[in-house]
Amino acid sequence: MLAFLLYAAATYAQTTSYVFPFTSDTSIVNGYHIYGSVGSGPTTEFLIDTGSTGVLISPRALGTNYTLLNENFCFAYSSSNNTYQGHWVLAPIVFSGSGSEPVSAQTIPIPVRVATQFCSGATGKCTTDPGEISVSMLGVGLGRGNMSWGGEDGCGNQVPLGVNAFLQLEEMQPGENASPGYIITPRNSSITLGITGANSEGFDFVALQLAGNASNVTYSDWVPPTVEVNVASQTWTPFNASLLIDTGISYSIIQSPASDALPGSTSRGVTTVSNGTSLNLTLPSLGGQELYAFVTGQPGAPAYVSWRHAAAPFVNTGRGALGEFDYLFDARRGRVGFAFNRTV
Ligand SMILES: *[C@@H]1O[C@H](CO)[C@@H](O)[C@H](O)[C@H]1NC(C)=O
Ligand SMILES: *[C@@H]1O[C@H](CO)[C@@H](O)[C@H](O)[C@H]1NC(C)=O
Ligand SMILES: *[C@@H]1O[C@H](CO)[C@@H](O)[C@H](O)[C@H]1NC(C)=O
Ligand SMILES: *[C@@H]1O[C@H](CO)[C@@H](O)[C@H](O)[C@H]1NC(C)=O
Ligand SMILES: *[C@@H]1O[C@H](CO)[C@@H](O)[C@H](O)[C@H]1NC(C)=O
Ligand SMILES: *[C@@H]1O[C@H](CO)[C@@H](O)[C@H](O)[C@H]1NC(C)=O
Ligand SMILES: *[C@@H]1O[C@H](CO)[C@@H](O)[C@H](O)[C@H]1NC(C)=O
Ligand SMILES: *[C@@H]1O[C@H](CO)[C@@H](O)[C@H](O)[C@H]1NC(C)=O
Ligand SMILES: *[C@@H]1O[C@H](CO)[C@@H](O)[C@H](O)[C@H]1NC(C)=O
Repeated sequence: MLAFLLYAAATYAQTTSYVFPFTSDTSIVNGYHIYGSVGSGPTTEFLIDTGSTGVLISPRALGTNYTLLNENFCFAYSSSNNTYQGHWVLAPIVFSGSGSEPVSAQTIPIPVRVATQFCSGATGKCTTDPGEISVSMLGVGLGRGNMSWGGEDGCGNQVPLGVNAFLQLEEMQPGENASPGYIITPRNSSITLGITGANSEGFDFVALQLAGNASNVTYSDWVPPTVEVNVASQTWTPFNASLLIDTGISYSIIQSPASDALPGSTSRGVTTVSNGTSLNLTLPSLGGQELYAFVTGQPGAPAYVSWRHAAAPFVNTGRGALGEFDYLFDARRGRVGFAFNRTV
């Protein structure tokens, strides 16, 4: 055992990781949550969202230890059409968890979105009353386009680099001992920050293409992997699509090539797939390994599957897929990992 540990330390310079238990009200229905404090603010429960990038908070979640960045933002969640506007601040975030042993880890000061206006997608009503703005999202996704990586948001504001809090721990900075990345382990109700040789054992890896690289943050952005969509009892052929495993939603979104018929009656070009439909999502880069197979309406399926056409085929599994595997994102090496039969 000792010999093994010494070997591992010699092989992998990056040896530090932190395991945070999810908060107690975490579930596949409610989503995965972690506690954090922004700029020495109150301990706040965050939804871990792999479908967006960057931290979005209400003013009351921000403490006094921050500096204003001279930059505004607009942010829209396409799923709910909730929209937020406000300003960027630079603030450190301290994550904390109390499992068998208390654990905490701090980021360097990173750009954070503080919302000063909220418009409800459901009602269309807008408010600037800080008391009515309740949001604490921790966007940690990869390859989410203009939400990060110096893109422009919907209002033409520049989005700063380095907004993914899980990749910006102090220990993940150059010369330190942790490697930027995380492992979501729902069956242990925990998330690990920092990829090591030991904690990445037992995963099947898919190498990713570079989407953006910058020397002033310690990691790159990556193009999401490809998934193949197979639907039994339908006439169309399987198709490949860009894969998003989105812990921010409980349902699934599939955008198929325009040449396919939609699997159900449509209004405005969108359909909800009928109950009893078998879907099988597989990973071509892992030799057709099954990623997530389910029958709509049955246990283990997404809450529902919303299907539409799009020029760029796309699958958002929703968080239901995480009932099938542990999910690893290694931002430094550019790979995602899946552990299908790991016991914890
Ligand atoms: C499971 O969670 C506990 C703390 O809640 C942690 O100590 C342990 O390392 C975790 N195991 C894995 C494989 O993540
Ligand atoms: C989304 O919300 C914005 C502003 O709140 C509104 O202008 C837009 O029409 C909405 N879009 C949809 C698809 O509901
Ligand atoms: C404020 O943030 C800085 C930068 O992360 C940190 O070094 C400092 O300890 C923080 N101050 C307090 C009072 O927490
Ligand atoms: C990205 O840009 C598009 C086009 O300008 C815009 O509609 C969308 O809201 C932007 N997304 C975000 C998260 O800012
Ligand atoms: C990183 O560098 C880019 C390009 O020079 C710059 O636009 C951006 O503001 C820098 N980001 C940070 C966090 O320093
Ligand atoms: C990203 O840029 C840095 C600095 O220019 C370089 O050292 C690194 O190899 C690049 N990473 C990749 C994946 O190309
Ligand atoms: C999906 O992509 C893989 C790898 O490029 C390829 O082998 C496979 O035939 C594609 N599937 C479809 C349905 O086009
Ligand atoms: C899904 O497809 C894969 C690859 O063809 C296959 O191995 C697996 O058995 C299928 N799963 C189901 C539930 O049909
Ligand atoms: C589909 O199944 C789910 C779960 O069993 C159920 O809640 C829902 O009402 C069903 N939908 C229809 C249209 O029957």
